[in-house]
Amino acid sequence: MAGLRLSWREEAKKKVAWKAVELVKDGWIVGLGSGSTAAYAIFFLGKRVKEEKLDVLVVPTSYQSFFLAVKEKIPVTSLDEHPKLNLTIDGADEVDKNLNMIKGGGAALTREKIVGFASEKYVIIIDETKLVDKLGLNMPIPVEVLPFATSVVINKLKETWKNVKIREGKGKVGPIITDNGNFIVDVYCGGIENPEKVNNKIRSIPGVVETGLFIKMADLVYVGKKDGKIEVLTKT
Ligand code: 5RP
Repeated sequence: MAGLRLSWREEAKKKVAWKAVELVKDGWIVGLGSGSTAAYAIFFLGKRVKEEKLDVLVVPTSYQSFFLAVKEKIPVTSLDEHPKLNLTIDGADEVDKNLNMIKGGGAALTREKIVGFASEKYVIIIDETKLVDKLGLNMPIPVEVLPFATSVVINKLKETWKNVKIREGKGKVGPIITDNGNFIVDVYCGGIENPEKVNNKIRSIPGVVETGLFIKMADLVYVGKKDGKIEVLTKT
């Protein structure tokens, strides 16, 4: 982590990650999001565990965050042992002014949604490029789909949106497989007027496991800015 000079975005991600990790208290159960910003938070949480002997247990939302937690020697637990969490710290791909979000750039959306839902407080850490006026203009909605149902789901989605694609792997031929053994279908919708309605519509299709639209879930968003400041957005 030390040494190389980081871009402003990496510096911003580190700052918000540290600010979120400062919220963690002794004895807490903490959800760990996935992605590069969440990875900074896991590193900083590990630092607090080592240096302050902070007593926490974590629930990772992906193999990525699981292995990072193990590397940082943060004790891991499960939702079965701890179905209620004090706090989850997670990244996001897009956040709007109502704190609705698109997540799933890293294909971890289903576990992230479950862990966020199970948390008393869901804190999101982003750099300012992720703040948008309207969700879905610059990225698709990731949808986790049961492999058995893929063609049925895609046909149904195509009745509304023309551009619907199975996400292909990098370093693997064919579709990516999520940590739950499913596929990701990316729905390019060119901007979402009513995120809640779209979320409900996609979730009503049999075979859809979960969508990357997170509606009214975030309690607090830390936004790392280019000028080095942190903007704090709270649920109204
Ligand atoms: C993974 C996610 C991530 O939180 C999202 O993709 C943001 O990642 P990063 O912090 O690397 O930009 O939703 O499924």
